[in-house]
Amino acid sequence: MAEHDELIAVLNEAISLEYTAAVQYNQHSMLVTGRDRLLFEELFQDNAKESLGHAKMWGDRIVYLGGIPKGEVNQIRQSSDITEMLEIDLEIEKRAVEVYTRAHKICKHLPTQFMLENHILDEDKDVEELQKLLGKVQVSTTSLSGTRGKSASGGR
Ligand SMILES: [Fe+2]
Ligand SMILES: [Fe+2]
Repeated sequence: MAEHDELIAVLNEAISLEYTAAVQYNQHSMLVTGRDRLLFEELFQDNAKESLGHAKMWGDRIVYLGGIPKGEVNQIRQSSDITEMLEIDLEIEKRAVEVYTRAHKICKHLPTQFMLENHILDEDKDVEELQKLLGKVQVSTTSLSGTRGKSASGGR
């Protein structure tokens, strides 16, 4: 077994996930209709491009580590309902954090480990944005009223 085989296998899982995400986001950009289209078409398109870029970046890394990148696309999920689309996309972004974290744990090549660390942050940022769009992040109303009081008095 070559030195980085285990890592290459996990990175190939990640590439499949990125290709799947690219197709899924692209489909969502086509399926979003009504006023939601104004808000979300561009976001879905940007995310599709980003996922394709990630597949390319990690495919290049696999070749550098002596492996062959696989081009498998898994089953995509789609919907015509915007909330459901965002939920489906949140799920795939969470899986991305999971797979890159797993790759990071087994990685014995230091520069790739640094790359993975940065990349986990990128994917977690996607999770954060989707959770906020879905209203899954609780903002403390207590601190909000405190801030309002301060800024009101600060302005006088
Ligand atoms: Fe990604
Ligand atoms: Fe992502």
